[in-house]
Amino acid sequence: AAAYENIQVETDGAVGIIRLDRPKAYNALNAALVDEVGHALRAFEADDTVGCMVLTGSEKAFAAGADIKEMQEKSYADVQREDFITDDWEVLTHCRKPVIAAVAGFALGGGCEFALMCDMIIAADTAQFGQPEVQLGIIPGAGGTQRLTRSVGKSMAMYMCLTGDKIDAQTALQAGLVAKVVPADDLMEETLKAAQKIAGLSRPVVATCKEAVNRAYETTLSEGVLFERRAFHGTFALEDRSEGMQAFIEKRKPEWKHR
Ligand code: CAA
Repeated sequence: AAAYENIQVETDGAVGIIRLDRPKAYNALNAALVDEVGHALRAFEADDTVGCMVLTGSEKAFAAGADIKEMQEKSYADVQREDFITDDWEVLTHCRKPVIAAVAGFALGGGCEFALMCDMIIAADTAQFGQPEVQLGIIPGAGGTQRLTRSVGKSMAMYMCLTGDKIDAQTALQAGLVAKVVPADDLMEETLKAAQKIAGLSRPVVATCKEAVNRAYETTLSEGVLFERRAFHGTFALEDRSEGMQAFIEKRKPEWKHR
């Protein structure tokens, strides 16, 4: 296994788990950490035994944002040249296997944005989400004005981005930012349950389904529905489609070929 300094990586059956582990800075996302996350994601993407991924942090923090101490010295020319927040962050959005964010404690600034790049968020009841960038004299730079707005709508996004106030897990649930809120002690167990379920399905079906949902963010409704219909038709070419329906009729569990 690769030696990482800012993350821990393990597998649980067919689920790849990446744990952000920079406790001295509430998992603040410095370049080294983001680079390691990208490396680990690519490794899981390439690993045929992995069907779903989980990105998580500690009990106290998913991540407290981009590393302020690392950003502090940067000039306009620096951030412009580096195209900071760099493409490294976006590796998450290029994964074809589903990625679930399991969030406990702080998910602030880039931490909230990192979670939003995942396919869904499962939150502990201790989770707090926020975009406090305005309090530093900057604005969100990794999707906080864009992915967050599409996730929670204009009013809540404006509230979070303009006041910098944190919202709690229940508020995040009501706003549609998270899929589920669970007791903090059960966060990994509940998240792994969902991840194992996904990892146990037909891989091409899961990848196609994820792709179709993501089209909803990138295109018009009629184009998205057309994409969905053609992708739906495509699943009829799979042996797993025949097996899934046959198993239903025979009242047994399907045995997916493409796992
Ligand atoms: N960057 C660098 N270091 C950070 C950090 C960050 N984002 N967040 C916390 N830390 C460090 C603190 O500097 C402190 O280090 P020292 O012990 O060396 O002083 C350590 O973590 C513990 O933090 P606190 O003493 O502040 O702990 P707390 O319990 O009082 O507060 C907190 C916790 C509410 C998370 C608070 O640390 C905080 O508000 N952090 C900053 C949150 C923030 O502003 N995030 C947005 C960053 S900008 C961004 O993300 C841009 C973008 O869009 C990509």
